[in-house]
Amino acid sequence: MNEQEIMNVEEKLMANVYAKKPIIITKGKGALVWDIHDKEYIDCTGSYGVCVVGHSHPKVVEAIKKQAETLISCHGSFYSDVRSELLQKIIQITPKGLDKVFLANSGAETVECAIKLARKFSGKPEIVAMMGAFHGKTMGALSATWDKKYRDPFKPLVPEFKHVPPDNLERVREAITEKTAAILVEPIRGEGGIRVPPNGFLQGLREICNEKNILLIFDEVQTGFGRTGKIFACEHWNVIPDIICLAKSVAGGLPIGMTIAREDIMSSFKVGEHSSTFSGSPLVCAAACAAIDVLVNEKLPERAATLGEYFKEKLQDLQTRYRIIKEVRGLGLMIGVELRFDVLNILIKSMNKGALILDAGRNVLRFLPPLVIKKEQIDKVLVVLDSVIEEEENARLCGSSSN
Ligand SMILES: Cc1ncc(COP(=O)(O)O)c(C=O)c1O
Repeated sequence: MNEQEIMNVEEKLMANVYAKKPIIITKGKGALVWDIHDKEYIDCTGSYGVCVVGHSHPKVVEAIKKQAETLISCHGSFYSDVRSELLQKIIQITPKGLDKVFLANSGAETVECAIKLARKFSGKPEIVAMMGAFHGKTMGALSATWDKKYRDPFKPLVPEFKHVPPDNLERVREAITEKTAAILVEPIRGEGGIRVPPNGFLQGLREICNEKNILLIFDEVQTGFGRTGKIFACEHWNVIPDIICLAKSVAGGLPIGMTIAREDIMSSFKVGEHSSTFSGSPLVCAAACAAIDVLVNEKLPERAATLGEYFKEKLQDLQTRYRIIKEVRGLGLMIGVELRFDVLNILIKSMNKGALILDAGRNVLRFLPPLVIKKEQIDKVLVVLDSVIEEEENARLCGSSSN
């Protein structure tokens, strides 16, 4: 099929739920991807944060090949050598006290599991979530997600979810009742615009939960697995939740999700109360074992911390030069650049110049590159951004921009 035919087929046959960019990606390596014409792009989307260890990391590829030839699928009701290896590996790098895992296939599923666990363990229905939060789009996760555009078409949602203003411990306290099972929060809001909480907020949530005997759930689907400069973002504030949701990048690009909880909490599930056909398949587990080894052996969290600081400083330099940049924020290689305008033009123009960037809401550029990205590649992205932002600022000053 030629380029146009490929696009036509997706347009015609695929559910129309993605805002498509007009390129066909055919190949990836590290922080680079190539389109059907062999044009190279630096991938600061990391497939929406999935490619922490980079595209097609050789160790992940090798593990997938080897496992594919041995055993691809094995239901959770049978034991699996590679699954048990993965469970040990993940527990070794997870904060102390969280030692039992439900394996799933996506981020939203890990949140569904956490919600069910919180209700089952506590015998209470209410979940307190944050305004601006994003936890996924399945019905339970969607009920915790904040944005009206995702929620409203699908009402009625799951009852007993409450949203409070983020970073405000007093409002959290006020929202808690005798029916509250858990507080669910992203340590750093991703889709909500890369919002890092003020020091004390997550610690404060932990104290409230201890005091009121309710569970603290951290959704680390976007922040986890080294992205922010620590394996889990909660380590920046030394706060350990009762349940962690982890997904996106753990299997080096294959679909995975993990809800990791205290043993007593996870044990509140009885046989059959939660499951998933694909959960913990050997193929995915082998890829995840390899990805965890890469994360640890290549010291990717440390790399994210150093390169993230460098990237952020350079973006802040741009901010001093361009008025359309309102704020640069983030931790590690999870960075947001808030503009005074819609970012769409900048995303498209950057793409045309070889840098793929994400948005987070209408006016925030979001950078979630693979943690293996090279400094020179960050520099190239900065050159692209500099020229695109200059062009956009000039166009806006002359009143000729198209959005
Ligand atoms: C914090 C957070 N939670 C949950 C999800 C949902 O993950 P998935 O799209 O894999 O269902 C996302 C996805 O971006 C996310 O960022």
